[in-house]
Amino acid sequence: MTRIYPVESLSAFPPRLSPGYRSTPKRGPTKPLIIMRHTLSELTGPVYGHDGIAPGDNDLTGHGKGDPIGERIIVHGRVLDEDGRPVANSLVEIWQANACGRYIHVVDQHPAPIDPNFTGAGRAVTDHNGYYRFVTIKPGAYPWGNHHNAWRPAHIHFSVFGHAFVSRLVTQMYFPGDPLFPFDPIFNSVTDEAARNRMISAFDLDHTVPEWALAYRFDIVLRGRNQTPMEK
Ligand SMILES: [Fe+2]
Repeated sequence: MTRIYPVESLSAFPPRLSPGYRSTPKRGPTKPLIIMRHTLSELTGPVYGHDGIAPGDNDLTGHGKGDPIGERIIVHGRVLDEDGRPVANSLVEIWQANACGRYIHVVDQHPAPIDPNFTGAGRAVTDHNGYYRFVTIKPGAYPWGNHHNAWRPAHIHFSVFGHAFVSRLVTQMYFPGDPLFPFDPIFNSVTDEAARNRMISAFDLDHTVPEWALAYRFDIVLRGRNQTPMEK
């Protein structure tokens, strides 16, 4: 069925019609957007399944000769569609800096230690409830040279495939209460505050494992009014 969304429902982005911005009424749509049904060519693509994921791929702390340095955490949540329905069998990939704010990458010259027991990459496939779960290390903030004294808030990069490439989402997950939020141009490039807040995980005491790891909840919405903001 063809869905019709009001223009403002796609609110992760600036409004198309801004009365104070005089040229927008000339070029912005005045009628509700019509979302066209995808054709077979758009919906056909690689199909990911649980077979392609090795045991332990969702545990970023278990691939070295010893434990990585830093604070072990659980990051978990659900992948949902625009109606809040779970998206099962969705490939979720993450990558991140280590606890010191350092990536294993040739262009990362931040003078912080590389952790030989932490690559910073992991992946999982959602179950029938759209649920995924990672065990990882809380990443550190790092400088990025965008401007004087520029530091990225601690974050984890996410790539999520829905049922096909057309529903791929690439975003960043942040941690609640980070003091760097007001100073980060990437975080603030999402101008809608509610949309921005959807990129911040929630501390989740219920899923914290006593004596072992704190948990953070991060639900991801692929489309619609409550869409998780997508990187451009
Ligand atoms: Fe990053």
